[in-house]
Amino acid sequence: MTPMSSSARPFLNRRLAEFGTTIFAEMSALAVETGAINLGQGFPDTDGPEEIREAAVRALRDGRGNQYPPGPGVPELRAAVSDHQHRRYGLSYDPDTEVLVTAGATEAIAASLLALLEPGDEVVALEPYYDSYAACIAMAGGTRVPVTLRPETTDGRAAFRLDLDELRDAITDRTRLLLLNTPHNPTGTVLTRDELASIAELAVERDLLVVTDEVYEHLVFDTAEHIPLASFPGMRERTVTIGSAGKTFSFTGWKVGWVTAAPALVTAVRSAKQYLTYVASGPFQYAVAEALRLPDSYFADFRADMLAKRDLLAGGLERAGFKVFRPAGTYFITTDIRPLGESDGFAFCRALPERAGVVAIPNAVFYDHREEGAPFVRFAFCKRADVLQAATDRLLKLWKD
Ligand SMILES: Cc1ncc(COP(=O)(O)O)c(C=O)c1O
Repeated sequence: MTPMSSSARPFLNRRLAEFGTTIFAEMSALAVETGAINLGQGFPDTDGPEEIREAAVRALRDGRGNQYPPGPGVPELRAAVSDHQHRRYGLSYDPDTEVLVTAGATEAIAASLLALLEPGDEVVALEPYYDSYAACIAMAGGTRVPVTLRPETTDGRAAFRLDLDELRDAITDRTRLLLLNTPHNPTGTVLTRDELASIAELAVERDLLVVTDEVYEHLVFDTAEHIPLASFPGMRERTVTIGSAGKTFSFTGWKVGWVTAAPALVTAVRSAKQYLTYVASGPFQYAVAEALRLPDSYFADFRADMLAKRDLLAGGLERAGFKVFRPAGTYFITTDIRPLGESDGFAFCRALPERAGVVAIPNAVFYDHREEGAPFVRFAFCKRADVLQAATDRLLKLWKD
């Protein structure tokens, strides 16, 4: 059956026509078919802290959250989000009017864009971008304006960097909103204090709203530092900050996310959110409230564990001949496959499960300017050390034997 109705009109709304099946579905199916090690999708293969799992079980047993929780989220979680933002960043948000719990960051992104955009509004976003951004901008009737992060080598370290002049030039009278992501998936770039200060100045000067996706806030390495954009002068009142328990506590299936913003912005986002899921993840909200109150040692250990995994995979990929962009944040490594004599990331990723028994994602799917992303391929390192070791052994065997 073709996807047409009897009047030959496609079933899929034209705003979504360009968004077919996600690459993650295609690559995960390939992983299952071939028995390959899946370093494609960003989910950990080890669950988060046992005590937090137990907290979810307790909530279920005690009947907390088994029926619709309050629309803005359970008060315990809203208070914990507010305390977390204060404890880590010195930002004060009123748990009753400035925090909104969502079904993961994904719903927070969708609700923010649906709430804040009018058809025709332009959204400037850093390319490559997380795949739901483009679809949500489209659903809201907005127009995306990509600003491409480009590979650069500074002091011997290769990274994707933002060109602030390009960002400035991308803003027009139709720009309503900047959609940022730091630490950045898929490049692993963490925007610096100076870059964020310049972005903030630009947002104030051009009177823009900012939606900033900070789901990897606890995954920053080496000398990188996560600084919320909302902490810069003039930003608190114009910034919607998005967080998620999935990445920080390794419970991606629980889908607990949140928004922090000024009351009028939270009210707007809530208006859209209430007609998406209304509420979600009742008992898990109580467990995440406990997770956010874990001692600093939890966050430090989590980061140290991920750093060791980053270095394990990055070292293996380098030995196998990839050019590696060692990420300053997130749990993804972007590589350049040209040193392997390859140039088409799509073809490379489609063949890799069969050739090497490993699944990766072609970065081109995160670009509007596909050619800019063609030679780049992303690997996730949020997997057990033995799994990462096995994957690198397979890649080494392919190119070095
Ligand atoms: C940048 C970014 N934002 C949002 C999400 C989705 O987060 P959640 O699982 O909380 O919906 C992801 C997941 O990979 C991500 O990488």
